Amino acid sequence: MPVDNSRLKGFFRLDVNQRRQMVATMAELSPDAIEALASHGELSEQAADRMIENVIGTMSLPVGVATNFVIDSKHYLIPFCLEESSVVAAASNMAKRCLKMGGFKTQTDGPIMIGQLQVLDLDNPVEAGTAILENKQELIDLCNSLPSTMVRLGGGCKDIETRILDSMNGRTLVIHILVDTRDAMGANAVNTMAEMISGRVEEISGGRVHLRILSNLASLRLARVSATFTPEELSNDGNPIEGAKIIDAILEAHDFAMIDPYRATTHNKGIMNAISPIALACGQDWRAIEAGCHAWAAVEDGCYKSMSRWSKDELGNLVGWLETPMAVGIVGGASKIHPAARANLAILGVESAQELAGVIAAAGLAQNLAAMRALATNGIQAGHMKLHARNLAVSAGAAGDEVELLADLIKQKGGPITQGLVDEELLKMRDSL
Ligand code: MEV
Repeated sequence: MPVDNSRLKGFFRLDVNQRRQMVATMAELSPDAIEALASHGELSEQAADRMIENVIGTMSLPVGVATNFVIDSKHYLIPFCLEESSVVAAASNMAKRCLKMGGFKTQTDGPIMIGQLQVLDLDNPVEAGTAILENKQELIDLCNSLPSTMVRLGGGCKDIETRILDSMNGRTLVIHILVDTRDAMGANAVNTMAEMISGRVEEISGGRVHLRILSNLASLRLARVSATFTPEELSNDGNPIEGAKIIDAILEAHDFAMIDPYRATTHNKGIMNAISPIALACGQDWRAIEAGCHAWAAVEDGCYKSMSRWSKDELGNLVGWLETPMAVGIVGGASKIHPAARANLAILGVESAQELAGVIAAAGLAQNLAAMRALATNGIQAGHMKLHARNLAVSAGAAGDEVELLADLIKQKGGPITQGLVDEELLKMRDSL
């Protein structure tokens, strides 16, 4: 039910229960809906209330664990937090098919984040940029005067770069501070440093510093992963001839995502089907990661394309490769304070932010191949059938054992599954019992 007015004066001063009740009244929520919001699993109401503003409750999503992942010779169980069926199973399935060739191999950059300062009102941006570079060490030291564990652990601002861009007011100066954030994602530290030096940047450059903010295009914090799949492993029953045909079909699917942004967007969504849910499960800023991944997919020549690259090696194996920005942390933020995120990081057993970045990239590559293999062979709906049927059965009102019975019945029927069909079959099933 839409509310009449979204201006809720003093809303933030209420406690969580009062806020929930207020919203429930305004939106005419049913008791079940109120209970759904009020029931909190691992995240206490107090913890939730400290994380964001105007909290009225919490919302749960399933956490599933993808199996079979061997990455850089280490086994991982990878937690995914998402609502979409088949994703976890698909990732696990592809990870299994990769085992024969040793699993996934990753390589990650050091944890360098970029903070930007936009310098305006300059008579000569090029000269101003030169002055900034001449005073680079002073600015770096100023950044690193921030009392932070990151700096104590050997991180902090490592370098400063300048760029000249064409803006609506002519040429303009942009300064990048390059900050080693160690095992943190680092947004807070980078933003603080950018703000800390802006006064001195104005003095040195003679300009006006406008925006001071981290860039989510974490181009110096890339994670790379590669994996090889034999034709046998990609076939349905170990047949290399069938596997070779599947590989060719996958390469055609990949090519589509290289030449058409409409297809690339969906193809990359398939990759994000792993990246975002793992990021969410591990308490990461998944919006920052998504922004970085999509931007990177368009950086090469300004044309948005596949985040992954697939080719065939001289033995006829399928070789996949993915490179993408991966700004993640295992200290600070929700990764530290959210109990489920802590638990999920413990399940993963990663010891550094870079290791986490590699794992996420590997799962992204596996997910991508799973989607392409399905699309290039039977189509995507075949694999979704059972779980999809279960979800529609629940939506139709099936309860307890009815869910499984109805899903089986629908699957046996074959053909497209729609909510209308499932509603009808539930009624028939109940009548027949
Ligand atoms: C669905 O969540 C993801 C896919 O659309 C990805 C793709 O098309 O490659 C299947």
